[in-house]
Amino acid sequence: AWNEAQANDIIGRHAGREGALLPILHDIQAAFGHVPAPAVPVIAHALNLTRAEVHGVVSFYHDFRDKPAGRHVLKLCRAEACQSVNGERLAKQFLDRFGVEWGGTTPDGRLTIEATYCLGLCASGPSAMLDGEVIGRLTKNSIDDIAREVG
Ligand code: FES
Repeated sequence: AWNEAQANDIIGRHAGREGALLPILHDIQAAFGHVPAPAVPVIAHALNLTRAEVHGVVSFYHDFRDKPAGRHVLKLCRAEACQSVNGERLAKQFLDRFGVEWGGTTPDGRLTIEATYCLGLCASGPSAMLDGEVIGRLTKNSIDDIAREVG
């Protein structure tokens, strides 16, 4: 749950340094699982930025999320090598199957699907990462496998 004192601790560890925003956002997300909406004005104030600037950075970087993730997180690679082996079409099938958009979480909270840009598995694309474990050579069957895995 959101805890302003904890957030202020995190901010205090970085504030005053050059480029403090990204490390603050990383630590906030590590602490709370996402960057909660009430963190934005607190960070903006501490760094003398506008809320829009902070929000812009949160939405620009795919590693940050502004809502809690589901119990499982699937990252599908959308970088070039994976695209060239039909990754986008397969990704679309994943999204359709779970009824979410990029970055979305299923209504039952079991799965979040996010984009990622190269997992270093280009030779065995399309690639993905499920809860931190990389998976290569995704096929249509992988959709069923993953659906079973996230139960
Ligand atoms: Fe997908 Fe490198 S492009 S793993």
